[in-house]
Amino acid sequence: PNLDDQMVDGSGLNRVGCRAKGGSPGFKVAILGAAGGIGQPLAMLMKMNPLVSVLHLYDVANAPGVTADISHMDTSAIVRGFLGQPQLEEALTGMDLVVIPAGVPRKPGMTRDDLFNINAGIVRTLSEAIAKCCPKAVVNIISNPVNSTVPIAAEVFKKAGTFDPKKLMGVTMLDVVRANTFVAEVMSLDPREVDVPVVGGHAGVTILPLLSQVKPPCSFTQKEIEYLTGRIQNGGTEVVEAKAGAGSATLSMAYAAVKFADACLKGLRGDANIVECAFVASHVTELPFFASKVRLGRCGIDEVYGLGPLNEYERMGLEKAKKELSGSIEKGVTFVKK
Ligand code: NAD
Ligand code: LMR
Repeated sequence: PNLDDQMVDGSGLNRVGCRAKGGSPGFKVAILGAAGGIGQPLAMLMKMNPLVSVLHLYDVANAPGVTADISHMDTSAIVRGFLGQPQLEEALTGMDLVVIPAGVPRKPGMTRDDLFNINAGIVRTLSEAIAKCCPKAVVNIISNPVNSTVPIAAEVFKKAGTFDPKKLMGVTMLDVVRANTFVAEVMSLDPREVDVPVVGGHAGVTILPLLSQVKPPCSFTQKEIEYLTGRIQNGGTEVVEAKAGAGSATLSMAYAAVKFADACLKGLRGDANIVECAFVASHVTELPFFASKVRLGRCGIDEVYGLGPLNEYERMGLEKAKKELSGSIEKGVTFVKK
């Protein structure tokens, strides 16, 4: 018998942890940190997604209010709320996709790494519960610093014996969304038609837009390349400064998170050629994690793509990115191992 076609329990997954053909049409999605600045608009957009049949909203504060509010939307997903650690396991059981925007955001003057002390522990605790309750779920990590929180989750899953590199993704979609917007502005294009690969990681110089590979093909001056690269790398800081102490990007992030989650769900459903950038376990460079284009499928990540041909400016950027990324990855791994 074809293992691909068999469901072995009620989860919609087959024996090898992939989505079974002919499984139920909707997916079960949990948002951890659902009452936050990102969590609320993300919950709203997920409730509007026809691929979602069950939506679990977990937070340590305000989950019941957000759940009551979202549950009145006349879309088909069933919404349930979960408040605080005692309800975490129930929130996670049976989930196909877990999206994590839990944690503190930056204030002006801070780097994403300044969030490590608080957010590392949050991501570790949530990952431990995922390993226990839904070890086969696809996990999308938004909590910063992504360059360290993804290695933290991986290390927790390794300890629990549940790590599957195909299922763990750091969400770098906001960098792509920004890059598409800024390139469209400079080239007077419709942003919906623009596709900029952004590789590396999700902080400062680790955010590496590959402007030589933009679709449709664009020819930029060196001045435009430097302006665009700087603006894409500082997009998060631009929002943090504009919000002046009230947090970081939430609305554009919720948009980006849903765009990425929707791609993951389409992949799980079996759609062909679903390709997006994400920060994943990788052999593309010598580093154990790296953001690049990945193809999403019924098992999560079906293929991690290489970087393609880089120009001299991008090669220099890659060296800088790898240097910083290496320390951030190591910091995450050490946090769990120590
Ligand atoms: P926020 O403070 O508005 O919301 C965070 C939510 O997490 C709050 O509702 C809080 O109660 C909840 N929370 C805290 N501890 C928790 C725990 N242990 N379990 C569950 N929930 C918990 O912050 P925000 O603006 O929504 O940002 C959230 C995170 O996302 C930050 O770390 C931020 O830096 C990051 N972020 C990442 C990207 C990206 O591109 N990956 C973009 C924007 C923001
Ligand atoms: C972003 O890129 O907007 C997020 O990582 C939040 C931040 O701190 O910049």
